[in-house]
Amino acid sequence: MSSPTWASPTGLTRRPVRPLSSRRWLACSQTHSVVSYAFWRLTVCSSFKAMPSATRPRRGCCGPITPSRCAPLVRMFGLPVTWASWEALQHTVETGLPAAEKVVPGGFWAYFASHPEASSIFNAAMTAKAHGQVAGVVAAYDFSGFGRIGDVGGGRGHLLRAVLDSAPQASGVLCDLPDVLREVSGLASERLKLQAGDFFKDPLPICDAYLMMEVIHDWGDEKAVAILKAVRRPAPPEAKLLVIEQIVPDDPGPHWTKTLDIHMLALLGGRQRTREQYEVLCANADFALARQIDTAAGISILEAVPV
Ligand SMILES: C[S@@+](CC[C@H](N)C(=O)[O-])C[C@H]1O[C@@H](n2cnc3c(N)ncnc32)[C@H](O)[C@@H]1O
Repeated sequence: MSSPTWASPTGLTRRPVRPLSSRRWLACSQTHSVVSYAFWRLTVCSSFKAMPSATRPRRGCCGPITPSRCAPLVRMFGLPVTWASWEALQHTVETGLPAAEKVVPGGFWAYFASHPEASSIFNAAMTAKAHGQVAGVVAAYDFSGFGRIGDVGGGRGHLLRAVLDSAPQASGVLCDLPDVLREVSGLASERLKLQAGDFFKDPLPICDAYLMMEVIHDWGDEKAVAILKAVRRPAPPEAKLLVIEQIVPDDPGPHWTKTLDIHMLALLGGRQRTREQYEVLCANADFALARQIDTAAGISILEAVPV
């Protein structure tokens, strides 16, 4: 790893090497199946175990946590395109570009649009990984003051449905790509609208609050700001933007987010960020980061307001 080709002005050298300080990462890089298991273990189970037992979901909007609930996540990490992207990791290290572009030149989202089976596995995996996160977010934030809540890149609507359950006065708009929303057309109701579109091209709805859970981490800084600006355009002056992400701690020690960072980088050109990095992204999109609420599920709510 000391070859000069690994050195990069964008700090990429540090990003792939950073997780190697974690014994967990080394252990899980032994075989593909172990990696699948480790990601399952680290995402779903760690966020669940991080919750105080009193707040752990047993039943509720998403039902009980069981190994079979985690199977979709293992299937996602086992998709051939995921493995092929990891195998091309050297491309990322040398160029700073996602390894996945070697495997899926149009990017993952275009790949999913033309591969419904893989898309379905991914979308089911998002619901599975979000199980503990959703419970943590709903327990940590009071949604009762909002009239209309948008979930941008909300997938199958697992977060928005739980939020609406906690805020009976509110209605919701689930925004995602057409192929994703086609899978959940049955969710549409008087109270929950589905708005299919591309947040880079199509206008987002006017809402009092915008949820964005693990959407910004899919993108590099330029695209991330473009998405936040797309939210900023329709947002009324008193609206709240809730960026819900796993935040990279400032200290240099091992942390799960540093492993996830490499996954985001290799597959999507995205990144896990520190609070300060989110503050800068928000400012570049005319939002001011007002506060950080750490949930008991390993994910934080960054509340931002229009400026
Ligand atoms: C990592 S998933 C997060 C899903 C959900 N928010 C969660 O945390 O479980 C990112 C979501 O962004 C959506 N997405 C990606 N590109 C998009 C675009 N251009 N316009 C709208 N949604 C997009 C994907 O379809 C996916 O549902």
